[in-house]
Amino acid sequence: MGAARRRALVTGGARGIGRAIVAALSDRGVDVVFTSRQPLKEQPEMAAEPYDLLDGDAEELIDRCVRRLGGLDTVILNAGEWAGGRIEKLPPQDWWRVVETNLRGNHLLARAALPALRASGAGSLLLVSSVIGQAGFPGDTAYASAKSAMTGFARALAKENGRESGVRVNVLAPGFVDTDMTTGLGERARQRIVDRTVLGRFGTAEEIAKAAVFLAEDATFCTGAVLTVDGGWTL
Ligand SMILES: NC(=O)c1ccc[n+]([C@@H]2O[C@H](COP(=O)([O-])OP(=O)(O)OC[C@H]3O[C@@H](n4cnc5c(N)ncnc54)[C@H](OP(=O)(O)O)[C@@H]3O)[C@@H](O)[C@H]2O)c1
Repeated sequence: MGAARRRALVTGGARGIGRAIVAALSDRGVDVVFTSRQPLKEQPEMAAEPYDLLDGDAEELIDRCVRRLGGLDTVILNAGEWAGGRIEKLPPQDWWRVVETNLRGNHLLARAALPALRASGAGSLLLVSSVIGQAGFPGDTAYASAKSAMTGFARALAKENGRESGVRVNVLAPGFVDTDMTTGLGERARQRIVDRTVLGRFGTAEEIAKAAVFLAEDATFCTGAVLTVDGGWTL
């Protein structure tokens, strides 16, 4: 009998980086369920669960995934919202919504997923943060606050869980990647980013997915780690 198949949940798996992570996990034989806010008309066969970080019932989502897959070994909290504007321009309700979506939303999901990850015996939780949480960026005080808090959260959670249950908690910090999130960047802003990036280009969702799968699945002695995948933008 071969080794049991791993079972994973990826949030925001219908597009962008999340979609590439779902594909990379599936390619290596992991059973994957992902969340999406929109029904997937073109791919009704995909294992999608509806979920909104702002008002979703995290316990109920995790229950549905556990029932569907028979348990959970890996949870990749990829879904995230970006909204920008300099501090005096971004209305406080929008500022706090960005923090709510990215930080509160992921806190609730991590909290709900932990019992299943502990039961796995080889549980892994990966939070998708951003280099903006490390270096900051003009117009991004909300996004940077949420994304940097995710690192502190992950490290504390790694310490709470590693010794007793072996659950690993890690953070991926992508740099600038071509997805819907970056299509709104103006030409000048885009060029400035490319000029600052050692590899001289934006990354692809597939390149980020490779690093996500490495950290979530292969890096069995990594916990509390932050892996920066940014083509050298933060150097
Ligand atoms: N692209 C970059 O340059 C970059 C750089 C660093 C970090 N990141 C991070 O990487 C992750 C994926 O981003 P992406 O580049 O793939 O962006 P994207 O193509 O815009 O996708 C965003 C994803 O987040 C989901 N999402 C957004 N708000 C949500 C909410 N309120 N509830 C549930 N799901 C929600 C979306 O789900 P729906 O499909 O249902 O809308 C979508 O799957 C995010 O956490 C982002 O912050 C991106």
